[in-house]
Amino acid sequence: MAFPGISGHTDVVEIRVAVSDDAETVGRLTLDVYRGNGSVGPNTDHGYLESLSDGASRIKHATVFVAEVDGELVGTITAARRGSPLSHVATADELEVRMLAVEASSRRHGVANGLVAACEQLARDDEKMAIILCTESWNSAAQSFYIQRGYQPVPDRDWTVNGTTLLAYEMRL
Ligand SMILES: CC(C)(COP(=O)(O)OP(=O)(O)OC[C@H]1O[C@@H](n2cnc3c(N)ncnc32)[C@H](O)[C@@H]1OP(=O)(O)O)[C@@H](O)C(=O)NCCC(=O)NCCS
Repeated sequence: MAFPGISGHTDVVEIRVAVSDDAETVGRLTLDVYRGNGSVGPNTDHGYLESLSDGASRIKHATVFVAEVDGELVGTITAARRGSPLSHVATADELEVRMLAVEASSRRHGVANGLVAACEQLARDDEKMAIILCTESWNSAAQSFYIQRGYQPVPDRDWTVNGTTLLAYEMRL
């Protein structure tokens, strides 16, 4: 995938599966993006903070994709199957997408679309019937992103954790 970079020329975005050498950057990038976005703050549950910053566990217990531009990671996403400690809501027929994060300076260039497309392909390869994900009820940017990609709200699967309402979205494959 290629997109016009902030420097004006075209940067190539490579979407690939993360390897153990990416773990630290994956964790740092996710935590930085979620801090900047307001998804984590002073009252955030410690376990959730640890999970966001623990790229190594995600790489071990799920499939993590990264987006790379010029050797720099600019985005990441985690795809977890039911039974993985990273999966909260997936049934056996679903792949659960979590912790999508794109660096602020790389947004609105299709990076998230590329990362989610990689998860959708993984789900098809696994013969899953759907992708399922949850996003905070206040996160209108993420909701707009998923809706433009064809995801549908599944209100009967919305849930609340530590006072935050999470809205469920799915894409049937
Ligand atoms: C939401 C997020 C992942 C989108 O990443 P991105 O790489 O900028 O998304 P894309 O460039 O692939 O966006 C594709 C389309 O989604 C929609 N979209 C993306 N960001 C949007 C926003 N802030 N507001 C409204 N629509 C948006 C648009 O339709 C966009 O197409 P356009 O740029 O041609 O208008 C990114 O803003 C982010 O990391 N936010 C903070 C973390 C977060 O909220 N993660 C999701 C948790 S569930």
